[in-house]
Amino acid sequence: MKQDMIVVLDLGSTRNTDVARAIRALGVYSEICNFDVTKDEILALPNVRGIVANGGPNDVVDGVKIGLSDEVKATGLPIYTFDYLENGVKNDMPEEDKDIAEALRSFVFDTCKAQPNWNVENFIADQIELIRRQVGDKKVLLALSGGVDSSVVAALLLKAIGNQLTCVHVNHGLLRKGEAEQVVSVFKDELNANLVYVDASERFLTKLENIADPEEKRKIIGAEFIRVFEEEARKLDGIEFLAQGTIYPDIVESGTKTAKVVKSHHNVGGLPEDLQFDLVEPLKMLFKDEVRACGTALGLPHSMVFRQPFPGPGLGVRCLGAITRDRLEALRESDAILREEFDKNGLADKVWQYFTIIPDFKSVGVRDNARCFDWPVIIRAVNTVDAMTAEVPELPWEVLQKITRRILAEVPAVNRVCLDMSPKPTATIEWE
Ligand code: XMP
Repeated sequence: MKQDMIVVLDLGSTRNTDVARAIRALGVYSEICNFDVTKDEILALPNVRGIVANGGPNDVVDGVKIGLSDEVKATGLPIYTFDYLENGVKNDMPEEDKDIAEALRSFVFDTCKAQPNWNVENFIADQIELIRRQVGDKKVLLALSGGVDSSVVAALLLKAIGNQLTCVHVNHGLLRKGEAEQVVSVFKDELNANLVYVDASERFLTKLENIADPEEKRKIIGAEFIRVFEEEARKLDGIEFLAQGTIYPDIVESGTKTAKVVKSHHNVGGLPEDLQFDLVEPLKMLFKDEVRACGTALGLPHSMVFRQPFPGPGLGVRCLGAITRDRLEALRESDAILREEFDKNGLADKVWQYFTIIPDFKSVGVRDNARCFDWPVIIRAVNTVDAMTAEVPELPWEVLQKITRRILAEVPAVNRVCLDMSPKPTATIEWE
């Protein structure tokens, strides 16, 4: 194994991720462990050199105050504690994230003698070894959505175990223009992956006919997705592992053992009990920027690695009300035009998320000297850090005009283009 590691031990802190990132900023790999981790579990981690234990406000679990266990002490590894009173000594964790690294520098390098050898190449090399160890000669299944995380997992697993991996790409008919084609061309044609491509568009669109309620639409899409994936999984023989593109923020949202709010996280979403797999989650300790760096190092195309976020229900939540095929097509075409123009005009890297929406009402217009009664298209572009709040950035007028002209000329049955100026709150980023 190429990388040294420092364990971040969660003793109830709310800032474990900040500490993990600070250690990685020093060039040393770090992973977060629960307070009740055993000596053997810690010592089984590759090249573990030391432990940073973080006390904090969530230090009572099931009514019992937690602390540094004998198991952890028995590892014999050097231990640094933040916000945890031991032998009358307490190191306060600095307020600013950037100061945490400085507070730990001497511990990490002088006490633990860790080498600053954390980088994407070493991470990939180590993960390949770990995946091979875990999987042996068994087969692995992956739901490949074409999103950043599942694409990077696929590329990593392909390097590690080649055709022991089977990817299933379900096209629910609500993908953006060219998306399914890109998945097939990158993974099947270029990387020679075992890829099962399922075009389930008809099935989804039929299920969604006349369903206008946003929540009901989302539920139908989610449930149908699992059904299709499950059907494909059952057709395959001898699969023992399920790979998932779980990344560190997913784990944080699900709640750690000490976190108060616990929301369960299902990456594939409640697969049936009788599909029993062991999980392979090689990205589960990475932050999004690190996942992207991995994807780039693995040779995935820039457009895939830096893809803007896209909701699971896809265009389904942007084709407002009951989805119809004509409006869905108009939505897909207008979205493609918007993306193309953002790309061409250098906005793609400056705006966090941008897309179009099509409402389920028409408006009056005039075309070829005659009255027309057609759909409007709405442009949405937002900047945000964490998607909890969002701002509408200033966009160059000429680009907006160009996009408007092109949509009106190239997309049939659209006679009006509007711009959504609403921040979140009060609006959400998506319309449904
Ligand atoms: P809202 O509309 O809640 O969106 O402001 C915040 C961010 O989440 C994305 N989004 C989803 N992502 N599954 C996802 O994976 C979903 O069901 C979903 N709904 C919204 C949205 O695109 C935005 O980036």
